[in-house]
Amino acid sequence: MVQLRLPKNSRYGKGKTWPKPVKPDGTPATNLTEFRIYRYDPDGGKNPTVDTYWVDRDGCAPMVLDGLIWLKNNVDPTLTFRRSCREGVCGSCAMNIGGGNSLACTKGMDEVKGDVVSVYPLPHMPVIKDLVADLTNFYAQYASIQPYLQASSAEPVTEYKQSPEERAKVDGLYECILCACCSTSCPSYWWNSEKYLGPAALLQSYRWLADSRDEAKGERLDDLEDPFRLYRCHTIMNCANTCPKGLNPAKAIAEIKKMMVERTL
Ligand code: SF4
Ligand code: SF4
Ligand code: FES
Repeated sequence: MVQLRLPKNSRYGKGKTWPKPVKPDGTPATNLTEFRIYRYDPDGGKNPTVDTYWVDRDGCAPMVLDGLIWLKNNVDPTLTFRRSCREGVCGSCAMNIGGGNSLACTKGMDEVKGDVVSVYPLPHMPVIKDLVADLTNFYAQYASIQPYLQASSAEPVTEYKQSPEERAKVDGLYECILCACCSTSCPSYWWNSEKYLGPAALLQSYRWLADSRDEAKGERLDDLEDPFRLYRCHTIMNCANTCPKGLNPAKAIAEIKKMMVERTL
């Protein structure tokens, strides 16, 4: 049997176990949740580790992001992660929590199965530090689908009009917050992330293909007509299962493939 192991410098070891918190009066905190968090310091020259921490739930709001912020403020100021809106809008707090990709700000600590909240960076992406993944390639792929309205007709004097039915066609698409949870859970993207656009960029591409006001559909489809950019999706459905906004990138990809066939008829 073939045994697969991570490269030596990617294997992580057991890290530090941080002291359990105490109350302001010096008595031990009793309402605790254990966190195990991936730590990587690019300047340290060492392999990543997984550190163990405890959050005092009596002094902390209920979401995983609240726990991380509590730990940063009260235990370990070097803990590094991204966050901004704290309400599931900006997409910056996407990480792997309890084995699945999710937004730390909308995932409750009590929703994580088991007694321990494990937190890792988004999978199969280069790590900049701790929970911060390098999304350079992800954003470049997003830019490559030209995510803006393109029209060649004369500009309307007032506004571009859409019927309610036409407008409804971008429902389930425009809500994407580009968190990358879907792309980093897609096995096809793991193995071909340089060439396959992945579910997030393809959902965004379909968002413009489905928009009645856009007049660059032919060019958009030409750009996707490639053995890798679109056709590496094998309908494994991890993307739809993991999207924290309840979107279905696999369906959007299937719609693009349908458009490809329809234009040849
Ligand atoms: S489709 Fe969902 S998981 Fe993917 S980037 Fe958009 S919001 Fe995130
Ligand atoms: S359905 Fe396609 S895009 Fe979604 S996870 Fe599977 S292979 Fe990736
Ligand atoms: S902090 Fe903005 S989505 Fe979580």
